[in-house]
Amino acid sequence: MMIERENEIIKSSILKGEEEAEKTLRPETLDQYIGQERVKEQLNIFIQAAKMRDEPLDHVLLYGPPGLGKTTLSTIISHEMNVNIRITSGPAIERPGDLAAILTNLNPNDVLFIDEIHRLNRSVEEILYPAMEDYALDIIIGKGPSARSIRLELSKFTLIGATTRAGSLTSPLRDRFGVVCKLDYYSDKELIDIIKRSADILKIQINQEGAEEISKRSRGTPRIANRILKRVRDYALVKADGIIDSSVAHYALEMLEIDQNGLDQVDRKLLKTIIDFYNGGPVGVDTLAASIGEESITIEDVCEPYLMQKGFLSRTPRGRVATEKAYRYFNLAFNKSKQISFNGEE
Ligand SMILES: Nc1ncnc2c1ncn2[C@@H]1O[C@H](COP(=O)(O)OP(=O)(O)OP(=O)(O)O)[C@@H](O)[C@H]1O
Ligand SMILES: [Mg+2]
Repeated sequence: MMIERENEIIKSSILKGEEEAEKTLRPETLDQYIGQERVKEQLNIFIQAAKMRDEPLDHVLLYGPPGLGKTTLSTIISHEMNVNIRITSGPAIERPGDLAAILTNLNPNDVLFIDEIHRLNRSVEEILYPAMEDYALDIIIGKGPSARSIRLELSKFTLIGATTRAGSLTSPLRDRFGVVCKLDYYSDKELIDIIKRSADILKIQINQEGAEEISKRSRGTPRIANRILKRVRDYALVKADGIIDSSVAHYALEMLEIDQNGLDQVDRKLLKTIIDFYNGGPVGVDTLAASIGEESITIEDVCEPYLMQKGFLSRTPRGRVATEKAYRYFNLAFNKSKQISFNGEE
């Protein structure tokens, strides 16, 4: 049981039972939202302008890896706009009628948040087009030759779509978003601020060095930083009078098998497999997934973006390749000529 949880600590997707804790730590205003400066600046202007015109905010698409704050940002937007937010997700809306019911119940300027919007059913998605564009629903009444279409007016609203994969969105849907924001991994400095803020709320004692240590191993992801903070707190309570300093944080993280680069067992296994079994690559993601016993989706959405950002992995048209940095990480010699012949053109 314990082991299972420890393997899960680095998963950036939300774990069972974590929703409540996340709500308490969720910032409520743009000012409290740390980092993502460009996105914040952009949204701030659009929000002010929409309020001055007394109109809803343009439709917003938020994309980026799990746990970076997409849901948080949408609740902040509704808060800043002083409107209600209705939260749902792509897979939860099964039929066009489900979406029609949600849309007709919105109040003027409300926010409709659709998580995992890339997973919307095609027939549901088609309802969204006129709704987003003209705030209208086209309903077909009757069947056969006597069928006719009537148009139903909706309140003006803001759709916020969130997705981990913007590339999976159909282009007619993507084109209907006026504001598109990409969330990036957080810097260590921003994560330190997030950790301190969370520690404050949770009444956890932590010093600068302790926060630094945790920040370095959080994969640039607030959700993971908060999760590690809570695990380290337990450790500090039992072993060190409840105060988290660098040595407590360091020791606890060793125990959790999260290294200085924020890599966990799955990341290491992935890199080591490419090196040992596929000669450094290229190897296709499905083959890789089967070799290490993970799902391709986890590898693509969670492991790879981080490994690529850190320079351990690169993607080529023919598959994944372990970089020189990955070889050095394992203290292995990197044979450049072999890589060149594998990559062909380089
Ligand atoms: N900029 C931020 N400042 C402070 N805390 C943050 C920030 N972004 C996220 N968090 C914290 O991280 C947690 C996860 O954020 P959130 O649920 O918004 O991520 P998400 O991008 O919606 O993830 P998913 O893709 O899994 O839905 C929240 O509980 C929140 O406390
Ligand atoms: Mg979310």
